[in-house]
Amino acid sequence: MSCRLPTTVIPRAYRLNYTTISLTAPFKFDGVIQIDVEVADAGINAAEGNPNSLTLHCLDLAVTKAKCAGKDATSLTMSIEAETVTITFPKKIPSGSHTLTVHFTGTLNDQMRGLYRSSYTNLKGEEKIMACTQFEATDARRAFPCWDEPSFKATFQLICTIPLIDGSNMVAISNTPVLETQEFIKDGERFKTYTFGETPKMSTYLAALVVGEFDVVSMYSEKTKIQTSVYTMPGKGKQGKFCLETASKALDFLEETYGIKYPLPKSDLLAIPDFASGAMENWGCVTYREAKILTDVGTSLTMKKGIARTVCHELAHQWFGNLTTMEWWNALFLNEGFARFMEFISVNHLFPEWNIWNEFVQSVYTLALGLDAMKTSHPIECTVNHPDEINSIFDAISYAKGASLLRMVSNYLGDDVFIGGIQAYLTKFSYDNAKSGDLWSALGEFSGKDVPGMMVPWTSQTGFPVIHISDDGSTSTERFLASGEKGEGSWPCPIVFQDGEKIILDDSNKSAVENKIKTLLTDSFFKINAGQYGFFRVNYSVKQWEKLADVMVPGKLSTIDRLGLISDCFALGKAGYIPVTVPLNLVKSFGDIAELDEYVIWQELSEQMRGLASLYKDEPFFPKFQKLMAGMFSKQAELLGWEKKEGENENLGSMRAAVFAALGAADDAGTAQTAQKLFNEYAAGGDAVQADLRQIVYKLALKQDEEGVMRVLMDLYRRTDFPEEQRNLMLTLGQVQNAGLHAEVREWALWSGEVRIQDITYPLSTLGSSNQANSDSAWKYFQNNYDKLLSRFNNMWPAVAAMMSRGGSGGQQKVDEINAFFKVKPVGSAKRRVEQGCEALLLRFGRLERDRKVLEKYFL
Ligand code: BES
Ligand code: ZN
Repeated sequence: MSCRLPTTVIPRAYRLNYTTISLTAPFKFDGVIQIDVEVADAGINAAEGNPNSLTLHCLDLAVTKAKCAGKDATSLTMSIEAETVTITFPKKIPSGSHTLTVHFTGTLNDQMRGLYRSSYTNLKGEEKIMACTQFEATDARRAFPCWDEPSFKATFQLICTIPLIDGSNMVAISNTPVLETQEFIKDGERFKTYTFGETPKMSTYLAALVVGEFDVVSMYSEKTKIQTSVYTMPGKGKQGKFCLETASKALDFLEETYGIKYPLPKSDLLAIPDFASGAMENWGCVTYREAKILTDVGTSLTMKKGIARTVCHELAHQWFGNLTTMEWWNALFLNEGFARFMEFISVNHLFPEWNIWNEFVQSVYTLALGLDAMKTSHPIECTVNHPDEINSIFDAISYAKGASLLRMVSNYLGDDVFIGGIQAYLTKFSYDNAKSGDLWSALGEFSGKDVPGMMVPWTSQTGFPVIHISDDGSTSTERFLASGEKGEGSWPCPIVFQDGEKIILDDSNKSAVENKIKTLLTDSFFKINAGQYGFFRVNYSVKQWEKLADVMVPGKLSTIDRLGLISDCFALGKAGYIPVTVPLNLVKSFGDIAELDEYVIWQELSEQMRGLASLYKDEPFFPKFQKLMAGMFSKQAELLGWEKKEGENENLGSMRAAVFAALGAADDAGTAQTAQKLFNEYAAGGDAVQADLRQIVYKLALKQDEEGVMRVLMDLYRRTDFPEEQRNLMLTLGQVQNAGLHAEVREWALWSGEVRIQDITYPLSTLGSSNQANSDSAWKYFQNNYDKLLSRFNNMWPAVAAMMSRGGSGGQQKVDEINAFFKVKPVGSAKRRVEQGCEALLLRFGRLERDRKVLEKYFL
């Protein structure tokens, strides 16, 4: 089934009126929608081929009545599969402009999609219900019948009537400012009708409506002449201040960068207690989960950075995505990759002291390289039709690879030239849709370079290359695969050398690159891909890797180059292109290094070493591996200490977390003791453990007294309403090892109602894989409770299915079991996530088998 609507009937304007939105059971809503349509040939629009019919999207709604061109519909047919309603009239609708009127009703669901309900606690401590929307990618059709595809842009005008429950401060908020309101009493109850201004031409997935009680803080910018407001749950207004200032300043910066005025009259940010993703860029009405808005004195810097990035990301979409929208979801990376890239440009402008680009390389870029090295990865642009397919590409390929490729091309063209091209592209396609080719052409025209020629191979092929450099300077290129197997593909690689020279490595330039490398061979060492702008791995000869170990000390290379070498070397070792002992030797000397200002390097090292530790944990050589690991971090730990020092660099909190997490994984006795001591003090109501260290302190305490600490953690969870702390606690609770306690935590996480559906990934991320027996039991549990889990976690299904099936070291046997199960029960939207989980399982299994012998010898 194609799943696409034909373009023979085109919507121009929606006037949507919700006459009832009931915030009490059974949570019904009633609506009437008038759609101005232009009919070229209505007959061709009909799904069933009936020339008297019209088809549009509609799901989980009851359509009661419809009318067009003065004629009442004679039949209304829903297709659950196509997610449409087909409306049949007594005769064919003539070509021309008409108004289609549809009456419908629905229910505010609890699945965080469409028009749904969320719960919050009001100032009196009572639990209350609010209503809100989440439409991307294909859920506007759950709130009103519409042409629910991004290229059917139209204007929207919304009217809605909400109940004014006594004593409450209910308001309705949408994309545009309120034009007028009217209060009335009906059957003894008070109501208020809101009429909102008409929106510009836009896609359905960007429409929004929120009905609830809020605290609000606002700020006016003289630069943009725009008022920014942050809406939080009652009593939490102050916690929105950091977010507010960031949002207002980001808007100033973005307006200047894009060279186009912010397209709407206001900019609202709203915290929603039940929210499926991190945040959603509804035009002028951005919604966030609470964790992405609220800060207080105890909020860690990591969290604040996350908030700043999220705010900048969603505001970047207000132009790139909302004003100019991808024509179809196959080009989702245009939206999400660009917004992710723009996050870093904006945050770097607003908070230069954070050196946020280092974090781009350490998290975004390496994440993309990691996922794209798998056979189950996909090209950035791939065919998607069904909503499940569309939802499954909101992944690291669209976001992180997309952003990494944009950073690569921006560096290649020069950042100013890149932004110039972006301005031209946005101006040309304002209030319109575009394809990726349109972006490459705009950048090409502006720069005078062959951008389409360089970029299309990167968006059309899965994966990325590894460039092998041998001792004589000759190069060879192949697709990098995490399994080390031979892969297909060819990519033009813009190589930046340490001296700043740039050459694109492709068939025609191979010798130029090799000649340049030959001039470097006599140096004490050389590194290519300076700044890690290129989206590829570089493999040196073993001899060169040895030389590079000498420049791992501070001051010889930029932070990013040092980071890049660690990342490349470990990836190559894990994939088997080089023995895993090469990366271990590369970083051996870290034990002698004392430095306090390069935390991303230590974070990378900590992640890499912890990854290996979890793979080798049952091997006979593991104690020796742990000793090596502890040696790398102990000097740093001593230097840092557990306590924050007056006036220290703010990033040191993250550094401490990375260093002590590594020492914890190495079973360092001193680390465990201190953590236990801190935990006991904290549990007894003493001084708070700093936010950055909570997770590691909880984890190490749990290890030492599972039952007792688990009860304390659950108790702490019940007492806090702070999202960062709740998350720390959920992540830790998922790590219990004891089988009985594991089952208890699982039951609590899934069914107690204490963990919101939006947060289920936190406990599950570790519950599915805490040890072999527990991961087996999670998988068995999943199979036995499939129907129940699917209906409760509907919108979270990909994560739930992937997390509960992926753990353990079962290898091929486990994968066969997983495949057999999903032959019987549909995997649905979890398809890609489960496939990737299976591949990861096999990769781990293969690596362990392969490394075992090498490491037994290495640690003799
Ligand atoms: N457009 C997305 C939200 C979204 C995600 C909608 C998945 C539908 C499916 C939004 O712009 C986004 O990217 N949100 C991020 C937040 C990030 C910046 C921290 C997210 O939810 O992860
Ligand atoms: Zn986004």
